[in-house]
Amino acid sequence: MGQPRLFCFGLGYTARVLAAALMGEGWTVAGTCRDEAARADLAADGIDAFLFDRDRPLDDAGAALGGATHLLSSVPPDAEGDPVLARHAGAMAAMKGLAWAGYLSSTGVYGDTGGAAVDESAAVNPTSEHGRRRAGAEKGWLDLWRAAGVPVHVFRLSGIYGPGRSALDAVRAGRARRIDKPGHLFARIHVDDIAAVLRASMARPGPGAVYNVCDDEPAPAADVVAFACELLGVDAPPRVPFHQAAKEMSPMALSFWRDNRRVDNSRIKGELGVRLKFPDYRAGLRAVLAAEE
Ligand SMILES: NC(=O)c1ccc[n+]([C@@H]2O[C@H](COP(=O)([O-])OP(=O)(O)OC[C@H]3O[C@@H](n4cnc5c(N)ncnc54)[C@H](OP(=O)(O)O)[C@@H]3O)[C@@H](O)[C@H]2O)c1
Repeated sequence: MGQPRLFCFGLGYTARVLAAALMGEGWTVAGTCRDEAARADLAADGIDAFLFDRDRPLDDAGAALGGATHLLSSVPPDAEGDPVLARHAGAMAAMKGLAWAGYLSSTGVYGDTGGAAVDESAAVNPTSEHGRRRAGAEKGWLDLWRAAGVPVHVFRLSGIYGPGRSALDAVRAGRARRIDKPGHLFARIHVDDIAAVLRASMARPGPGAVYNVCDDEPAPAADVVAFACELLGVDAPPRVPFHQAAKEMSPMALSFWRDNRRVDNSRIKGELGVRLKFPDYRAGLRAVLAAEE
């Protein structure tokens, strides 16, 4: 492989953390965003950014993708499906010299298991329209790259947090709530650990592999808020029973609270040798606070 180059459809929160880590090791990075301000910001960081969305496909996708050795998509599906596949499947399939492709998905594709454990062999059984679109996008990405003979990987992410995006922000902004739903646990993952999983996969491609990406300790959302309050030295908000909080929730938020499952993360450890830097939310939030201060 020549000079390693990553192309990211969607240079958002996670992709930018990955990009920074790789650029620190001499990689070049290119990718897409949706507005001029973001493009200027990315260019200032040395990233070749192109504007892309469903209504504004890349002008010359072959040139933009040219030279990429690794390709990642973090663009979520919209109501019509996956916008990247819809617009650029042909140009991607024609790429030469691609060693690795990755798609950032969500553990939401598993739906509700009533709290039972799910590893990557579990059935995909989404309960929401959003989850069904996500499952369709996963399949599209796996099919495209399998047909092109490129090792493709799907990463099913749990709730992403890190500097600038955590329960600490919600507490600081006064919008944190301690919603009580006994027995309901959520999985989460620090953004640095996602980047570590992606890099481990690039170092050890496994064609067609699907990986759950979450930490070791699924926990009630209310406990995370209480810990964030403790770190910030403020009183925790009162507990609100779920049935009461649900009356004001968006359909998207309600669908998160409908699905209860325990996501198993053994494969990222066993197959990829990943050692999580932040195995639980306490370690992660302490690090986030330190980084923000
Ligand atoms: N947040 C979570 O807790 C969570 C959990 C599981 C899975 N995920 C999924 O994991 C992936 C990475 O998450 P993230 O938080 O790093 O994402 P993010 O910060 O929202 O970044 C997503 C990127 O995709 C771009 N994008 C979004 N919709 C697009 C569209 N319709 N057409 C073209 N570009 C579009 C965004 O552009 P702009 O910068 O212009 O917005 C951004 O660059 C996403 O697919 C997300 O849905 C997230």
